Amino acid sequence: MSPRPEIERASVARGVELLREGGLVAFPTETVYGLGADATNADALARLYAVKGRPTDHPVIVHLSVQASLDDWAQKISPSAHTLAAAFWPGPLTLVLRAAARVSRRATGGLDTVGLRVPSHPMARDLLDEFGGGVAAPSANRFGRVSPTTAAGVHADLGNDVDLILDGGVCAVGVESTIVDCTGTEARVLRPGAVTIEEITEVLGASPLIGGSTRAPGTLASHYAPTATVELVTRPELAARAHALVTQGRKIGVIARNTDIDLPAMPPAAVTLATVTSVENFAHGLYAALRKADQVGVDVVLAVLPPEAGIGAAVADRLGRAAGGR
Ligand code: TXA
Ligand code: MG
Repeated sequence: MSPRPEIERASVARGVELLREGGLVAFPTETVYGLGADATNADALARLYAVKGRPTDHPVIVHLSVQASLDDWAQKISPSAHTLAAAFWPGPLTLVLRAAARVSRRATGGLDTVGLRVPSHPMARDLLDEFGGGVAAPSANRFGRVSPTTAAGVHADLGNDVDLILDGGVCAVGVESTIVDCTGTEARVLRPGAVTIEEITEVLGASPLIGGSTRAPGTLASHYAPTATVELVTRPELAARAHALVTQGRKIGVIARNTDIDLPAMPPAAVTLATVTSVENFAHGLYAALRKADQVGVDVVLAVLPPEAGIGAAVADRLGRAAGGR
């Protein structure tokens, strides 16, 4: 592997120093940016929850280095959890496991289970390798808002409430990790993501259960929401709905695959918020598009869901929540 620029190394070292001092360090992952704190430092965790604006009974994910020992963090780990970890770590997968006794219940929201993830972004890996311990990190946005996929997005939302923002470019995946609860007899997908249901099924040799209620804010009906109203429409409904809203004087933004937008039929005033050619592309650009909607003062975002196969399930999930069940 070729060495990365010195400036990144220097800031990773500073990030490690700040984590050790109980600071808050925003860092890139392959999914979205995380807001990190030492998972064993009670004061740092208290500050993390305060800055995030998240209720203290909502658990955060603990991020680990590839070198970490799972047994330090979890116990009674099921064979399917080992299988999933071996197949998808480092990568966009979070496993919910029975927490080891020493894991701070402040990081788990008081639960006896813990969400663990080994990210693959090179800067996250460097940070976690050098820090050595677990880094508790929710997405680096205020509670209920759109997750950031750039360092600038973190800065816009959290500003100076963070001690350092490590800039690792635009997140490749663009939506949060797949969460799989492995504490029951069967694996259960709590949140769809880039590791797809199809891939999990293949690796486990059986379909996982899907859905289920936990104290998981990412699973609240209204979440990932911009200020603009998000409305889900079908491809045939799009142009007529856009015209109706423009007639009412509303500013319209559109998120859909190019093939789902009949451009000549659309009102010229409608703003295309993302250029979407594939479902991976849709996930990658989704949060930037929702942020853009607010930046350009769109009143209503009209979204056409992609097919729900693969990462399309995650896109449909997040857009459904952004629409707040509407
Ligand atoms: O891709 C991601 O997962 C990003 C990056 C930064 O790693 N992180 C992320 O964190 O999305 P957050 O806090 O925004 O969402 C984590 C979700 C929450 O819905 C949380 O409740 C759930 O994971 N979670 C964490 N620990 C859990 C547990 N023990 N049981 C059930 N859900 C858990
Ligand atoms: Mg989040």
